Amino acid sequence: MDNQETVASLRDQFYTNHSHIYFDGNSLGLLSTSAEQKVLELLESWKQHAIDGWTKGDHPWFYLSEQLGEKSANLIGARVGEVIVTGSTTTNLHQLVATFYQPEGNRTKILADELNFPSDIYALESQLKQKNKNPDDHLVKVKSRDGLTLHTDDIIAAMRDDIALIVLPSVLYRSGQVLDIEAITRAANDKNIPIGFDLCHSIGSIPHQLHDCEVDFAFWCNYKYVNAGPGSTGGLFVHEKHHVKTPGLAGWFGSNKEKQFDMNHEPTFADDAGSFQIGTPHILSTAPLIASLDMFEQIGINALRERSLRMTAYFMDLIDARLSSFQFTVSNPRGNKERGGHVYLEHHEAARIVKALKKNGIVPDLRPPNGIRLAPVPLYNTYEEIYHVVDALYEIMSTKAYEQFSKERDVVS
Ligand SMILES: Cc1ncc(COP(=O)(O)O)c(C=O)c1O
Repeated sequence: MDNQETVASLRDQFYTNHSHIYFDGNSLGLLSTSAEQKVLELLESWKQHAIDGWTKGDHPWFYLSEQLGEKSANLIGARVGEVIVTGSTTTNLHQLVATFYQPEGNRTKILADELNFPSDIYALESQLKQKNKNPDDHLVKVKSRDGLTLHTDDIIAAMRDDIALIVLPSVLYRSGQVLDIEAITRAANDKNIPIGFDLCHSIGSIPHQLHDCEVDFAFWCNYKYVNAGPGSTGGLFVHEKHHVKTPGLAGWFGSNKEKQFDMNHEPTFADDAGSFQIGTPHILSTAPLIASLDMFEQIGINALRERSLRMTAYFMDLIDARLSSFQFTVSNPRGNKERGGHVYLEHHEAARIVKALKKNGIVPDLRPPNGIRLAPVPLYNTYEEIYHVVDALYEIMSTKAYEQFSKERDVVS
């Protein structure tokens, strides 16, 4: 079996509902049988060992976040000790901004972008307020020229002398544009501005080289392409050159593990990314990740990216060939370097088309007012499914089947 066949064979390990075509793995990945098994195993360790589960059993809870951090490092090009599994995207962002945002003199602003995910913006604004800075003039957002993508040149031009911190996504959540992390980080490093990336839409989908690019920090969730389940524990990366930093938000799980139970009021923090943990890890929400990361280790992120690129290329070709008369726009970047794991279709009837797709057993997601995200995930989706999705879209549009649905969007879309 070559790499691509091995990837395709993993589909059987996932709970794919056979009456559905699931193209929403960029929002919430599917459950695998091995991830399910790990949750049961860790419940068993609680049953068997009670408090001793922290140090006993196959996955002693006390060391789990560090061990899984080490395994996650392969996904993002990090070194051992630079990654810890902890928190959620938003709480990790709070931690990292509290640590890296040190306004001084004229350098007081945070640079983000106008297409950023709302939770990141809320977190940045609240961190600014914590430091008595008015977000209206201290949160600078790089403008998009087309409402879909960002230009590297515009981002670099916005790195002015008054910028104290930069936070950007690796992949834009709507258009799926992959930012040029290497070039952007080089420019930030040249200007001595700390820079961090939200990897929610790239981890498990696109390889990174965060250590070598000298990215200062990154944060992510594990419930999208990493398939660790709803609300599963997230992760963060801090480049080893910053491990001397005192965490902005301190807690006892950031301690050096040898010292944590000395119960001193003077903390001794871990000398790696582990220091950025706050409280007791969420073991049951971490359990599925043990199995997911094993799967990534088995297959390798490069093989997954290769299959993902082939799948999205095939998808776009079919859309061009069959849907061109129905006013769809493929609004994700098309190039291999700039395209993430999903295809982003725009249509003025998106809300009704999404409802019609769902009625046909296809699960996409709507990004109002006019966006439809469709993710063929290389671990468990197939080329046949891509064909069926385009076929269903053709049927829905040519028969105007979407017109039977209301234009209002569902509460969770
Ligand atoms: C790009 C991005 N950033 C941040 C978040 C917020 O993540 P969480 O709710 O896990 O904190 C999400 C959630 O989907 C996201 O897609």
